[in-house]
Amino acid sequence: MGSKRQTVVLFLAALTVVLSSPLINELQPGEEWPQRNSVRQPVADDQTEQTLTEDFSTDDPAPAAVVEDAIIVAKTIERDHEPKKIDYSGSQVWQVSTTKSGARQVIGRLRRRNLISTWGGNQSSVDILIKPNVVENITRVFKRESIDYNVVIEDLQKRINEENPPLDNDEIELQDRRGHRMTWKQYHRLEDIYGFMDYLAKTYPSIISVKSIGKSFEGRDLKILRISNGKSDNKAVFIDGGIHAREWISPATVTYFIYQFAEYFDVESDDIKGIDWYFMPVVNPDGYEYTHTVDRLWRKNRKPGYRACTGTDLNRNFGHHWGGKGASNSPCSEIYRGSNAFSEPETLALSEFIKSSAANFSAYVTYHSYGQYMLYPWGYDNAVPPDYKDLDNLGKKMAEAISKTGGSQYQVGSSSGLLYPAAGGSDDWAKSQGIKYSYTIELSDTGRYGFVLPTSFIVPVAKENLAGLRVLASQVIKE
Ligand code: ARG
Ligand code: ZN
Repeated sequence: MGSKRQTVVLFLAALTVVLSSPLINELQPGEEWPQRNSVRQPVADDQTEQTLTEDFSTDDPAPAAVVEDAIIVAKTIERDHEPKKIDYSGSQVWQVSTTKSGARQVIGRLRRRNLISTWGGNQSSVDILIKPNVVENITRVFKRESIDYNVVIEDLQKRINEENPPLDNDEIELQDRRGHRMTWKQYHRLEDIYGFMDYLAKTYPSIISVKSIGKSFEGRDLKILRISNGKSDNKAVFIDGGIHAREWISPATVTYFIYQFAEYFDVESDDIKGIDWYFMPVVNPDGYEYTHTVDRLWRKNRKPGYRACTGTDLNRNFGHHWGGKGASNSPCSEIYRGSNAFSEPETLALSEFIKSSAANFSAYVTYHSYGQYMLYPWGYDNAVPPDYKDLDNLGKKMAEAISKTGGSQYQVGSSSGLLYPAAGGSDDWAKSQGIKYSYTIELSDTGRYGFVLPTSFIVPVAKENLAGLRVLASQVIKE
């Protein structure tokens, strides 16, 4: 009896040693793996409040107290209802030429009057979203000013409706048997993405661990998944997605990388196996969920700013030349920089994690959409770092691998040079921390669908970008 008990105690002690040994550097496998289904889903009450807050227009002069009363009243009425989704019926997306002098000023004026918002753009054109009631008006303005444009999307709501159809029954049955619900046939909710990460950590505990590095403003976990063979002198690569909420192809692509490396680690190349991979597929979980429940085209996080204006642009909130060009100090702006550098819990947690990590990061890659660009610093102004040739060369090799694999053409250059100056980006900050290969990759497409990219694009986009990532891995290993 006694000796049996001793054996058990010894066994448990040994197990504890094995489980807590620092095989996986700073992440302790077994310690902080959340239970499946532990992901907080927004409750109807929260959502109601958010929707209603948004309903008060920016220049509504109502004092704060009145606004709050109204919310409370409406909340009780709406308690049992699903949050109302914003309807984009009749909204259009136009590609507008900006080569004519004065065109940018006209567009800027329309934007400040809240009649349009910007989707994308480069040095010769911008894509703008136009509200249905002003389509005619703006047509007249552009004709008068002889500004050229193409109507790219005629009815945005139609595109949104077709973008992310539900899975068929066979697929749902499969999902239930697999232990996680992630597919690359659909854009998934945060719960599925986090459930997938937790599943992998449980299934492959010797190489994979998951850590929550903090909480979003609304209290959701900020999760990172690490894949490593545990060798202590490995180089490390940090990859993230979903900084901008509406860029759904980004978390879909990053989770695809995770899937490939995790499920096929044994047969992966030595390059892949020799790197410690850190993946943070959804940097902005509050915004991401909000794009699923309320506003498909939300960009920022969900921290209240001023009056009815919510959200900070997380990619203007990082602390390298924060507050410079291409960032706004108005909380109502889509490119609001926040009240200070790292004023947002999401950017703060990410930066603190990288700074405090013992990992030897030699690359940082952040996935956005859209436009098909491979961008390197600097973004804050028209300048490049001393070693930009190295970034340019590797960027071109990655772009070549992408085009060979899937056929998409990616343009390579500095983000200020190729697009526009925009200070406070995560890529600039990573570079400023001494991470050599820092890129922002703007995934597909080049504007036909924009953010509302049909699910049939997920696998092709992810596959060709995996080829690009392999090129980066081989460079990192060589250095
Ligand atoms: N479309 C991205 C954005 O506007 C580009 C970011 C490029 N990087 C930069 N530091 N500006 O956020
Ligand atoms: Zn983006």
